[in-house]
Amino acid sequence: MKKFVIACVMAVLPMTAGAAGGGVPLDHIEVDATNHASLQRGMKTFVNNCMGCHSAKYQRYERAAQDMGMPNELVEENLILGNQKIGEQMTIAMSAKDAASWFGAPPPDLTLEARLRGPDWIYTYLRSFYQDAERPWGVNNVVFKDVGMPNVLEYMQGIQVNNCTPEELAHGGHETIDPLTNKKMGQCLTVIKDSGQLSPEDFDKAIYDLVNFMAYIGEPTKLESHRIGTNVLIFLFIFFFFAFALKKEYWKDVH
Ligand code: HEC
Repeated sequence: MKKFVIACVMAVLPMTAGAAGGGVPLDHIEVDATNHASLQRGMKTFVNNCMGCHSAKYQRYERAAQDMGMPNELVEENLILGNQKIGEQMTIAMSAKDAASWFGAPPPDLTLEARLRGPDWIYTYLRSFYQDAERPWGVNNVVFKDVGMPNVLEYMQGIQVNNCTPEELAHGGHETIDPLTNKKMGQCLTVIKDSGQLSPEDFDKAIYDLVNFMAYIGEPTKLESHRIGTNVLIFLFIFFFFAFALKKEYWKDVH
């Protein structure tokens, strides 16, 4: 019994460590690769707002079009901004060397970002930029302190300000609730009213779609793996009865 209890505790320990996420509490989302409409909206936001600086060079436009149920022509017309072809990877023209000198750190390729940081981290990161006059771009970030990226989605979200002390912010802040949405906006942050194009709810939805897309490009075969996995389990289940019947047949004479 004692061993069993220890085994259970050991099994749960890594989960609690993972959930801590570096001190700042992260907002949780459930990504859904079957939601094609969400993925399509996310891809549009990604192409229009992120690919000025970040590539997703392990993802091809064509594969994304197929997986999200979009005709190739539509993707070519609306989602490929340069003169790239549908069969090409989602690369960008900016060189990493130039970018490093402009931003201090080069914007990394984002194909595998959702696997590196997890969807919750990216979802929280993109919603927790706040005004900070001491930073070169005038913004800082709760989960990525002194980040080198400007808040490129400020036109959508509006200007966000921090109501906490630096210490509170570093520890996830006190439990301030956003008066507009009644949600905890990165714990300490509130958006200045009417400074962005989207309402807080719509901005959260747009970021959900964007992160959903980023999770998809991190693991484009996930849906297929799940489908194959289910079929294999069904096969094994059916096969069990035949194997069992065969075993009975073989041992019939022995007993
Ligand atoms: C103007 C250029 C620029 C644009 C546009 C931009 N980023 Fe960034 N991004 C950067 C830079 C530079 C960094 C590296 C920051 C650092 O390391 O301090 C970065 C870092 C990141 C990171 C963290 C990477 C890590 O270290 O794990 C994520 C996630 C990210 N960007 C997502 C996005 C998304 C999503 C968009 C589109 C909504 C976007 N970025 C648009 C410049 C940009």
